[in-house]
Amino acid sequence: MENFTVYNPTRLYFGNKALEKLPDELAQTGKKVLLITGKESAKKHGYYNQVVQILQTSNKKIIEYSGIKPNPVVDDAEKAVQLALQEKIDGVLALGGGSVIDTAKMVALAYANKQDVWQLMKRKVEPVRNIPLWVVLTLAATGSEMNGAAVLQNHQTNEKIGYFSPLMYPRASFLNPEFTLSVPKNQTINGIVDLVAHSLEAYFANGNTPLSDRFVASNILEAMDYAPNLLNNLTDYNLRARMMWNATVAENGTTMHGRSVSGDWGTHALAHHISLLWDTPHGQTLSVVFPAWMKAMYYKIDTRLEYLGTLLTGKKTTADQTINIMENFFKSIEAPTRFAELGLNENDKSKLLDLWKNNRPNGMYIDMDETDYETIIRYL
Ligand code: NZQ
Ligand code: ZN
Repeated sequence: MENFTVYNPTRLYFGNKALEKLPDELAQTGKKVLLITGKESAKKHGYYNQVVQILQTSNKKIIEYSGIKPNPVVDDAEKAVQLALQEKIDGVLALGGGSVIDTAKMVALAYANKQDVWQLMKRKVEPVRNIPLWVVLTLAATGSEMNGAAVLQNHQTNEKIGYFSPLMYPRASFLNPEFTLSVPKNQTINGIVDLVAHSLEAYFANGNTPLSDRFVASNILEAMDYAPNLLNNLTDYNLRARMMWNATVAENGTTMHGRSVSGDWGTHALAHHISLLWDTPHGQTLSVVFPAWMKAMYYKIDTRLEYLGTLLTGKKTTADQTINIMENFFKSIEAPTRFAELGLNENDKSKLLDLWKNNRPNGMYIDMDETDYETIIRYL
């Protein structure tokens, strides 16, 4: 087992009464709150009104930045920072899914440090402080509600990259599964793929840490257990609650202890390029890239695949069988597993390969070279 430190300062309120605790949290800071939301779902389904009402009765002045798009862009974060600087805010409240939360994280950090968002993300400058960030989650998927990571894309530099800072953990996150009852089926599928992919990313890092490996397998088995039911009963509170907690646990550190890095993240790095080029939803990029990555990187991960399959099935399983189990699960929930299912063609594949060769996405543990990229492309 590798040496490790456990640090996760986010206070998490879970359940249909979670928001009752928001006033207590808000009371701990100043008057001006920057509320960041997505395009329309929060307003359409009434979550926005509930949150605004709490902010008003808590005597907060609301500054608003809305319209964050899925696969969020650095320009929006920069504009929100300018607004924050004009208004001199005291805290940031994110109401939405991963795209909104990630933007809010970078806005809070850039504002607190008076730094440029992209300079921070490219690690040209080091942050030293932050202001409070609260999250009201409306979508179970990324785990951003309980981690210190953010992912943004930049069309000027042609990159979509992740950034982590221990200063970016939300101060508190409010997870009411009722807020996810309105998530449509396709977005629910994307969320399930994402949380399973996070479990796999953790698993493929190094470290002899059987307990963390078992957490990974449990996360995947949990998703396999509720997914078919949930996709037929999208408004079932208990199934939504199971998915919400599953997504949080998949990326809040639980599966990562005892490894020298938090996960491999090579598949995410590859998949982000598909979102960057065609604005494909994050979950769909992962259900297409993960099976291809496992097949191409087989020569480095075969024994890990065998062990994962054994944990998942309770009996001796080959590496090929494990890949099939994962790919068949994605297919069973109607997630795309081939590039063509994203509406993309062979020309698009060459474009993607060129961008990979240029940007050189890589795993934190399992290295990829140009030959690997070419093999992965063939399996897509
Ligand atoms: O914009 P609105 O109108 O709100 O609609 C959103 C959006 O279209 C909709 N939605 C959200 N809550 C809803 C809802 N629709 C109905 N009812 C609700 N309650 O869902 C759509 C997708 O939202 P988005 O926030 O983009 O989804 P997700 O949470 O999957 O976030 C994806 C982003 O997070 C990044 C991804 O790369 C991607 O950019 N990631 C962040 C990570 C992190 N910070 O730890 C790790 C992940 O691996 C991931 O990379
Ligand atoms: Zn992800």
